[in-house]
Amino acid sequence: MNTDELVVKLTEDGSFTFFSPEFQENFHSHSGAKQEAEQKFVLPCGLEQLAQQKNSLQILDICYGLGYNSAAALATIWKVNPHIQIQLIALELEPRVCQKARASQLLELWEPPIPQLLATLAVNQEVKESHLQAKLFWGDGRVTIKQVIGLNFQADAIFLDPFSPPKCPQLWTVEFLSLVAICLKPTGILATYSCAAAVRVALQLAGLTVGASKSVGRRSPGTVANKTGADLPPLSLQEREHLQTRAAIPYRDPMLKDSPEIILRRRQNSQLASLLEPTKAWKKRWCK
Ligand SMILES: C[S@@+](CC[C@H](N)C(=O)[O-])C[C@H]1O[C@@H](n2cnc3c(N)ncnc32)[C@H](O)[C@@H]1O
Repeated sequence: MNTDELVVKLTEDGSFTFFSPEFQENFHSHSGAKQEAEQKFVLPCGLEQLAQQKNSLQILDICYGLGYNSAAALATIWKVNPHIQIQLIALELEPRVCQKARASQLLELWEPPIPQLLATLAVNQEVKESHLQAKLFWGDGRVTIKQVIGLNFQADAIFLDPFSPPKCPQLWTVEFLSLVAICLKPTGILATYSCAAAVRVALQLAGLTVGASKSVGRRSPGTVANKTGADLPPLSLQEREHLQTRAAIPYRDPMLKDSPEIILRRRQNSQLASLLEPTKAWKKRWCK
């Protein structure tokens, strides 16, 4: 990606994001980049409550980007428990994204020492401070997730924030999410902004139970997932029926190395051959 082409964009809560010409997508929702980090990732993972109960927390931030999800997590956790130890692992394909965010001072939205710590992370790929130990792994998440597994890292919270499934299907497959699930503690929780049926079914096939996170503003709900099903906000009947339609056929990437085009075509072929209810019929029933 030529990140010189990343375009800075203002969102409705006053925070900035980037537009990616390569993926033809914004890094955050128009309604608010900071708000999305807080409401779609940090809040559904219950980090504020966990910070009150624990002395240490482990976080895995998949698709670190500008670093907003990690920044919002650190701010929320340290606000309620300034003494807690945080271990953070972040995965990102393109180093220059967070470097450009740093150069444009976009993380100054958060209070010190968060911008300084995340600037160190962007430059050194590592932070070793008394309250934060962080590592940033560059490269395709399908490869770097194996390094996380190799470290035996077990997360209380996982943020899953790739570009949308049609643009970045390789990070929404059953095979990739099965590796992600290995990094989740038995009591941990994964949050993502997506409510796509294919994503929810892939998470289920990866061994997780899924629930709906609250919608923010006009937007659709996101998804939360854990290993036990305990304390998850349940899916509505409409959402459960969505999982029985052709939209729920998940993305597959058996060897974890196919191109987005191949992964998309594989799913399209499965949909064409499927006997599941067409998604249009489900939509007609629910969206009159
Ligand atoms: C929606 S943005 C993430 C926004 C980010 N969480 C934030 O708070 O700024 C998606 C990110 O995924 C990264 N990405 C794209 N393909 C990837 C891959 N195969 N592995 C890891 N990261 C990838 C992009 O470079 C981009 O930074």
